[in-house]
Amino acid sequence: MDKPAIERAKEHFGKILEDQMIRMEKIKSMPDWIDLDQVKPIIIGIIGGDGIGPFIAKEAQRVLEFMLEEEARTGKVEFRVIEGLTIENRAEKNKSIPDDVLENIKQCHVTLKGPTTTPRKGDPWPNIESCNVAMRKELDLFANVRPVKVPKQGINWMFFRENTEDLYALGPNGIEVDEDIAIDFRLISAPGSIRISRLAFEHAKENGRERVTCVTKANVVKTSDGRFLENFYKIAKEYPDIQADDWYIDIMTAKLVDEKRRRDFQVMVLPNLYGDILTDEAAEFQGGVGTAGSANIGKQYSMFEAIHGSAPRMVKEGRAKYADPASMMRAAAMLISHIGFPNKGKKFEMVLDICGQYEKKYVLTGRDTGATGAEFSDYVMETLNDPNIESRWGEYTKVD
Ligand code: IPM
Ligand code: MG
Repeated sequence: MDKPAIERAKEHFGKILEDQMIRMEKIKSMPDWIDLDQVKPIIIGIIGGDGIGPFIAKEAQRVLEFMLEEEARTGKVEFRVIEGLTIENRAEKNKSIPDDVLENIKQCHVTLKGPTTTPRKGDPWPNIESCNVAMRKELDLFANVRPVKVPKQGINWMFFRENTEDLYALGPNGIEVDEDIAIDFRLISAPGSIRISRLAFEHAKENGRERVTCVTKANVVKTSDGRFLENFYKIAKEYPDIQADDWYIDIMTAKLVDEKRRRDFQVMVLPNLYGDILTDEAAEFQGGVGTAGSANIGKQYSMFEAIHGSAPRMVKEGRAKYADPASMMRAAAMLISHIGFPNKGKKFEMVLDICGQYEKKYVLTGRDTGATGAEFSDYVMETLNDPNIESRWGEYTKVD
């Protein structure tokens, strides 16, 4: 038996525990939610990212500025473009987020972020941590909020994916014990589980939703999922008017496909990796990950992004201008609601439903057989200007 390998692994594990206990203290002593109503100007950073990122971010930015024109004029919001979160720059600095870029991000209250390439073992890039994951940790964006709606099928789901823990917390910190054994660590904490569950119940309460469902595999992953679930039910007790239940991830994945049952789910709360997977599946019913936006929410900062990748191949083949900006626009709509303009955010979403799901005057195919991203955003802005938008939407969304 390779005793030194065991000792090395123990030492490594000890260091991980020290770091994580410090993180627990930080979470517990963190300042409360920032009140953006009191902030002027709210600084909105636009981060292009890489691959198709800068192309679709530009289109989303155009619509965002169009919608917040008055707020920008009166100094309530201010836009800033943040450069340097590209795979080339990250690789050169050998950092998930180069220091100067992180500094600039921290100057903004909220950011709208294009997709960024995530390297893995064997890629031409250094195997640095995903910059999405790094940003979620750095800014403590503990809630990944992902809505999925298919009004015609009665689907209206809101996912609250825990965003800083689970297998992601220590993703780059596993141990190559010896030639045979590799170990990764899965961390679930009580403070982490409590804050995500509370946010999900608060959302349900504020939005008149009747049910919150927790998704785990606590029958098998007893210790960490056990802790997540136990804290979910602890918080549920504070909301006696809301029905709380839980499902295992395997059957949940199946039930989302079950047309008779899936409309019953409303708000779901789940650990990071299950949330990553289930939200991709859920987005498929709405038209795919290209149609889904996502909010990464923390008490001080928030970041809004598309849920798909950076599609470097599209850029290589000269097709970047045909990339679909809809998911970035969904993220932008969530940003608008988050910073205090929920009516504008809702209207934006409604228009994206009309343009992307129902009317489809311009369809993007990702190549020159379809529209460009710029044409699509012109179409979105034109539709936003239509005073009869509500009734147009009502016609389209009558449940079958
Ligand atoms: C997402 C993405 C990321 C994740 C990747 C790019 C690291 O899949 O935001 O869902 O796994 O969280
Ligand atoms: Mg994902």
